[in-house]
Amino acid sequence: MVGPSLLEILRLFKSALPGGISGSELASRFGVTRVAIWKKIKKLQEIGYLFEGRPKQGYRLVSTPDLLHPIEIYSELETSWFGRKYIYHEEVDSTNTVATKLAMDGAPHGTLVVAESQTAGRGRLGRSWMSLPRKGLYFSFILRPPLEPRSAFQLTLLTALALLETLRGLYGFPVMLKWPNDIVLGEKKLAGILAESHMEPQRLKFVVIGVGVNVFHRKEDFTGEFRYSPTSILIELQDRIPIRRQDILCSFGKRFEEYYERFLVIGWQPWIEKLKEVSFLLGRFVTINTGQEKISGIAIDFSTSGGIILETSSKGLREIWIGDIEQVAWKYNNGTPSTPCL
Ligand code: BTN
Repeated sequence: MVGPSLLEILRLFKSALPGGISGSELASRFGVTRVAIWKKIKKLQEIGYLFEGRPKQGYRLVSTPDLLHPIEIYSELETSWFGRKYIYHEEVDSTNTVATKLAMDGAPHGTLVVAESQTAGRGRLGRSWMSLPRKGLYFSFILRPPLEPRSAFQLTLLTALALLETLRGLYGFPVMLKWPNDIVLGEKKLAGILAESHMEPQRLKFVVIGVGVNVFHRKEDFTGEFRYSPTSILIELQDRIPIRRQDILCSFGKRFEEYYERFLVIGWQPWIEKLKEVSFLLGRFVTINTGQEKISGIAIDFSTSGGIILETSSKGLREIWIGDIEQVAWKYNNGTPSTPCL
């Protein structure tokens, strides 16, 4: 006889009344012996779940581990394709690298790779991403969009919008997007996105989108050089709200899935307004290094393809898709930028 899965048992405990569930109730619900139930509970305890109670009296789930273990994520994930194939590692070089290999081997749309730490976490433009064990959220997912290669960039922005809304919703933070991939709070960086596209001549073969969020870092964890001052959810919340990385991952997944499906139907244009509302750069004087040149001007809009439009003093309006923000100044007074704020 096949008994209940760990996931079925966990889901039941998570939805149970505060008094918990008796062993005999569990046994009769699943049609197995109390010993069989007890063995499953032991397995859950080994993963890190804490139960109160005894076989004869019943059990109560008192705490869940702060782990991104598949059983924990599956018990909370409300998506139809995001993360339905879930690959979990204690440590990897980079979840983007792992996801890329899986995608090349045919892993399906929505495959999610999560690690508790990365030994070679990658950021944009060849930078590294600090990935201390269990301090942050490090994940990458595979998309197989029926889109032209030039739409890939919009997926980075869509991811940023979903992540922003997730963090705003869970913690009430006024996080903003520093185009194209930095999530900032005030002037500090809280999260980053690294999208890597793989093309076929006329279409996108797949895109791997990697997300890194600073969650449990304390100030002293941020050692080394950072291009922008980093911060974490813990630092910003100062213990006001309990933080669970699984909440961030699961609610991001649900929101991203909704956004992505809507995006495939309505296209990119309607998202531009949303992007403007959360933009850290709009209205500010910025300098962007495109790799070929440095362009300075006031960020005035986003283009229909997701690029940013700068009003420059010498060359009028310039649209930029790829670049590194080198300077942001609060105001532009009579042609002179004020003190840089980033
Ligand atoms: C950036 O801000 O430059 C992008 C940072 C992206 C970091 C994440 S962590 C998970 C995934 N795996 C990586 O190696 N990078 C991304």
